[in-house]
Amino acid sequence: MAEKYKNMVSKKHYLHSGIFNQTLRDWQSLKSQVLPINLMYPVFIIENDDEVQTISSMPGVCRYGINKLKDHLTVVVQKGLTSILVFGVIETLSKDEHGTNADSARNPVIRALPKLREWFPDLTIACDVCLCPYTSHGHCGILNPNGTIDNPSSIKRIAEVALAYAKAGAHIVAPSDMMDGRIGAIKSLLIEHNLQNSVSLLSYSCKFASNFYGPFRDAARSKPSFGDRKCYQLPIAGEGVALRAAARDVEEGADMLMVKPIMAYMDVLKQVKDRYPEYPVFVYQVSGEYTMIYNAAEKGVFQLKPALMEILQSYRRAGADVIITYYTPLILDWLQLKHQL
Ligand code: PBG
Repeated sequence: MAEKYKNMVSKKHYLHSGIFNQTLRDWQSLKSQVLPINLMYPVFIIENDDEVQTISSMPGVCRYGINKLKDHLTVVVQKGLTSILVFGVIETLSKDEHGTNADSARNPVIRALPKLREWFPDLTIACDVCLCPYTSHGHCGILNPNGTIDNPSSIKRIAEVALAYAKAGAHIVAPSDMMDGRIGAIKSLLIEHNLQNSVSLLSYSCKFASNFYGPFRDAARSKPSFGDRKCYQLPIAGEGVALRAAARDVEEGADMLMVKPIMAYMDVLKQVKDRYPEYPVFVYQVSGEYTMIYNAAEKGVFQLKPALMEILQSYRRAGADVIITYYTPLILDWLQLKHQL
């Protein structure tokens, strides 16, 4: 018996003995690799074309006017950037109950799209579609007089905005509003305008009413003026409803799915990917996660690079195909460095 056990230990339990250089280590973890194609970079575009604004709640992240964004992205594209997620932020344009400036001719995203397409022909451009940066009340949809969500009006308006971004040149429209039925409404409108073959639909399918969006609401000037978003974003402990949301969005015609935030929702990611292996699944490392990691590194809790890579690899391991992260330029730097070594 003892002999048998010894034999077993020597053959099977020396896990590390066959993994002694980096290539061998990489082969054990190919599924978790982070490559440029796995990264999407969120950017904030402002009205004034020649301005750059720092964002105090997100150190190292800026809002850019389109001319400044051109300079910034030129460098990042050279480092291997393949896709961006665009957010518009307005300051002087008015906000009203219908979010009129979400798709007006003066909207910074509408103005930027044709230029971005021209300047960066190989870059895939996704547009966040939501009303909250453009409504007077800061909610993501149209409200009834009593302050509740008017669902039919909201999804009609959201679909209009998605169509406007599609027509202006977005490759991907990504509704983050979380209103029931918006995926079907957008897909139908795209088909009606014969855009289904040139515009892809990325659903923020599993977006939770999280505590981690605070810095973004500051960055996008999109904080609700009253109440919260619990009526349309998913309950944080609601695993079942999140899976039903993914199922519904698949049913309504989403091309890609998302889990957001990610750090506290990796079980949801794993389940979504296991259920829909044929769909690309995105995860959004949101503003609060960005700043939390940044601050921890600042305070010496860990070194940014190895800790962040550990975190990103864990998302890939759990099933994420694409990681939306404000750290993208930095990660691309590190990946380039790795290839030069
Ligand atoms: C708009 C939207 C939000 C985020 C992306 N799109 C904020 C929210 O829902 O309150 C959050 C992104 C981040 O925190 O980085 N609805």
